[in-house]
Amino acid sequence: MTQFRIAPSILSADFSRLGEEVRNVVAAGADWIHFDVMDNHYVPNLTIGPIVCEALRPHVQVPIDVHLMVRPVDRIAPDFAKAGANSISFHPEASDHIDRTLSLIRDHGCKSGLVFNPATPLHYLDYVMDKVDIILIMSVNPGFGGQSFIPEALQKLRDARARIDAYREKTGREIHLEVDGGVKVDNIAEIAAAGADTFVAGSAIFGKPDYRAIIDEMRAELAKVGQAR
Ligand code: DX5
Ligand code: ZN
Repeated sequence: MTQFRIAPSILSADFSRLGEEVRNVVAAGADWIHFDVMDNHYVPNLTIGPIVCEALRPHVQVPIDVHLMVRPVDRIAPDFAKAGANSISFHPEASDHIDRTLSLIRDHGCKSGLVFNPATPLHYLDYVMDKVDIILIMSVNPGFGGQSFIPEALQKLRDARARIDAYREKTGREIHLEVDGGVKVDNIAEIAAAGADTFVAGSAIFGKPDYRAIIDEMRAELAKVGQAR
């Protein structure tokens, strides 16, 4: 059965008490903490940087999954590795040398990820699969939490899943397929059926009073898909 991961995005958490928020969401069953970094250049919003990652690191044992929506990437990526990130993903359009950036992230001891905006083709993967640990499919345009899931992302997930499965057949190596944007209890099963194994959810979890109840409902939906496979 597929192993699914739920990665709450702290973008929708209460920023005035972030340490408590991440502890609570991990206690409620979160597998990863998704950490959205925005720079007001690559996306029209501004969030948090390495010092916040470093401050949160001692509060949780689970992986911190950094999603860089910044340009340039190479200057800042190592700072997140030093701040305790476990994975660092970036948008191919934001790097001048994708292959080099993927290596840079791994050289700093992190899993490396490539992120695909709704209109970004998967061909950026063609010659770098060996250097990619995570493929992150955006199901909203990046910049803000609380947007609606763009249905075309389902076909892109199927296409990415086909690439990952073919690559695993050939090499034996597993690549995570993560989805980010508009993931809810209502649509998580359909998204999993399209091939995703790791689910970012911001407003669906942090917008609600009982994190455990939502994460449990998501897992119950995922269990149906796992059994169907
Ligand atoms: C959007 C961010 C997402 C965001 C998801 O640019 O990358 O991680 O927090 O939020 P929801 O789950 O509310 O769509
Ligand atoms: Zn994100």
